[in-house]
Amino acid sequence: MNKKILILNGSPRQKGNSAVLAERVAAGGRETGAEVESIYLHGLDIHPCDACDACAETEGVCIIKDDMQPLYPKILQADAIVFSSPVYWFTISAQLKLCIDRWYGLQAPGWKEMAGKQAGIVLTYGDADLVSSGGINAIHTFESMCRFLRMEIVGIVHGTAGDIGDVEKQPELLQKAYQLGQRLGENKEKK
Ligand SMILES: Cc1cc2nc3c(=O)[nH]c(=O)nc-3n(C[C@H](O)[C@H](O)[C@H](O)COP(=O)(O)O)c2cc1C
Repeated sequence: MNKKILILNGSPRQKGNSAVLAERVAAGGRETGAEVESIYLHGLDIHPCDACDACAETEGVCIIKDDMQPLYPKILQADAIVFSSPVYWFTISAQLKLCIDRWYGLQAPGWKEMAGKQAGIVLTYGDADLVSSGGINAIHTFESMCRFLRMEIVGIVHGTAGDIGDVEKQPELLQKAYQLGQRLGENKEKK
């Protein structure tokens, strides 16, 4: 069966650098026959988790009625999730963080619904490297999160790109993103 890849785009720029790389991941995944869906989180009505803990009593169903509701089944059905974000203030964007915070609702089934899924990470930043940009903090966050959720990080694609279009001048980076998509789409990784 073909795999399902869900891409969560955390940039407000739909044609920005991380989005271009995420689209290459999507293309690589589609080439393998995977079903790929991209979600632009910016502009969706996603409220912060308010820590009401109702989800502990509702078998993991979050009671906040907003645009996370149609996202939950997509997240749960995905074999692989790609987190795509610009580095903002030395970590992931607020748009992506809001979405991930709402995964707290998955606590009721003991987080096990996420176990075994694959993850891909796409990060772009304006500064020269992973450390000075703060991209390293974003990677630590994803690594901690995936360890906790028992998700496997298949690949991390990151690079310097400030203005829109900068990433298009970096064929190696585009190629790495495409190859990440191919790896995520490969059927042998299917649970
Ligand atoms: C609000 C804001 C905060 C930013 N913070 C950082 C930062 O901490 N480190 C960095 O290297 N670049 C930072 N940047 C630059 C972006 O990470 C960079 O332009 C990135 O490629 C944008 O990706 P996008 O085109 O996908 O939105 C920031 C940009 C904005 C708008």
